[in-house]
Amino acid sequence: MNLSEIRHFLSERAAAFLQREKHGLLIDGEWVPAASGATFDTRNPATEEVIAKIAAAGPEDVDRAVHAARKAFDDGPWSRLRPVERQRLILRLADLMEDHAQALAEIESVDNGKSAGIARAVDMAMTVDFLRYMAGWATKIEGVTLEHSVPYALKADFVTYTRREAVGVVGAIVPWNFPLMVAVWKLGPALAAGCTVVLKPAEQTPLTALYFGELVAEAGFPPGVVNIVTGDGPGAGAPLAHHRGIDKISFTGSTEVGKLIGHASVENMTRFTLELGGKSPVIVLDDCDVEAAAAGAANAIFFNHGQVCCAGSRLYVHKKMFDRVVGEIGKIADGMKLGNGFDASAQMGPVVSQEQLDRVCSYIEIGRAAGAEVVAGGGRQPGQGYFVRPTVLSKVSQDARVVQEEIFGPVLTAMPYDSIEEVAAWANDSPYGLGASIWSNNLSKVHRLIPKIKAGTVWVNCHSALDPSMPFGGYKQSGIGRDLGRSALDAYLETKSVFIAV
Ligand code: NAI
Ligand code: MG
Repeated sequence: MNLSEIRHFLSERAAAFLQREKHGLLIDGEWVPAASGATFDTRNPATEEVIAKIAAAGPEDVDRAVHAARKAFDDGPWSRLRPVERQRLILRLADLMEDHAQALAEIESVDNGKSAGIARAVDMAMTVDFLRYMAGWATKIEGVTLEHSVPYALKADFVTYTRREAVGVVGAIVPWNFPLMVAVWKLGPALAAGCTVVLKPAEQTPLTALYFGELVAEAGFPPGVVNIVTGDGPGAGAPLAHHRGIDKISFTGSTEVGKLIGHASVENMTRFTLELGGKSPVIVLDDCDVEAAAAGAANAIFFNHGQVCCAGSRLYVHKKMFDRVVGEIGKIADGMKLGNGFDASAQMGPVVSQEQLDRVCSYIEIGRAAGAEVVAGGGRQPGQGYFVRPTVLSKVSQDARVVQEEIFGPVLTAMPYDSIEEVAAWANDSPYGLGASIWSNNLSKVHRLIPKIKAGTVWVNCHSALDPSMPFGGYKQSGIGRDLGRSALDAYLETKSVFIAV
């Protein structure tokens, strides 16, 4: 392990965890190596150094994990726990995560590249809040009783009601941009509903899930309730998605892999929810203050280095103020300092991997070739680490690839528009529909625009705000189903109708 530049910033807990050179899989309450003995490396994106060796699960390991989850669901003590006991365990886990939030944030920073301060204030804070929110649902799962109208058997009477029941064993496959937060978006409702879980973290960022696995045991969850199989997509993700022993799969990641998971799920009639890519528009109306719009738009794209599924990656500004707003964003971008997650003076970190670095830079070149004006940034920051300069591409045409395809990095496209009708049409001219933001204080225009936008979330004078109780998910190719809120819980429950002739 090599943590040359950041060792002295680490808390004792994070340093002790990162000291370990090898990490196993969590199956049935035991930490074990992969059956094949295979491992893979995880790197610090700020330094490109290997920080740990991680067990690479294959089909055999996934099968054992699914069986452990199956056993814990079908016969284990877990399914016999009263809702209030599930609630108490989830709350205990949230307390432990809060206590370990600093270490978790530091480990997330080392593995993903994001700022440790932001990981603490955003990722970990939201994760803990969300677990507590979901813990509350464990004791509030309810069916309905109804007056029946059964037309035959007139002399009989019926008692009719519905029960909500845990869907069963859940496969959760998560990405690397908010590694632990998104994992808990799946685990929270699954555990509240009474399900058991096999979690497959992203191969770029497995570490916080493994630390979390230890807290799950410490909180007192029975073995097999939460299993963690690290590995890549084809090796560990695909066998999980195709496994007949799972009842539901919850996925966050690319639309391409989401479709593969959807196909695999339909084959077995596994329930599935998919939270996928986006190309979210930021719409600045003509009454908006130039500086407020520029600051808001810059944050909408550059937060988490643009690696946010709902990042505001397409900016549309009214033509009368386009040059001023884009000029201001250019200045903000040029002024941003890039640095590792422990550099408190840095405003942005590296992208997650060499692959993402290449991908994002190639999109910048595609934009240039399509005639975009590069207002700021324009490629890699020379030196060590996967750093991309915050980039603004201006006056690109609506059908350009950089406007239509998800880049998933700190790259903004900016275009002027003339009328509300035009901007609404452009905002919706995308295969995606995850989020959108509108910047204006003109109530009437804002309220007319909100229903026109085909997106799972619309923000006004803010972007990417999330709350445990507010459903989050996409229209169109941005996915199926919702994370967060009551809607998330529903995705982990079946409905059983009961008729009793009396
Ligand atoms: P990905 O969709 O391949 O990875 C997400 C998760 O799916 C990871 O855990 C991965 O191991 C797993 N996976 C990959 N192939 C699989 C398969 N065949 N079966 C089952 N699981 C599989 O995303 P990737 O390659 O890391 O990033 C590529 C692009 O995807 C990004 O540039 C971005 O556009 C998009 N993306 C979107 C995310 C979002 O939050 N909506 C998150 C991550 C990536
Ligand atoms: Mg990593």
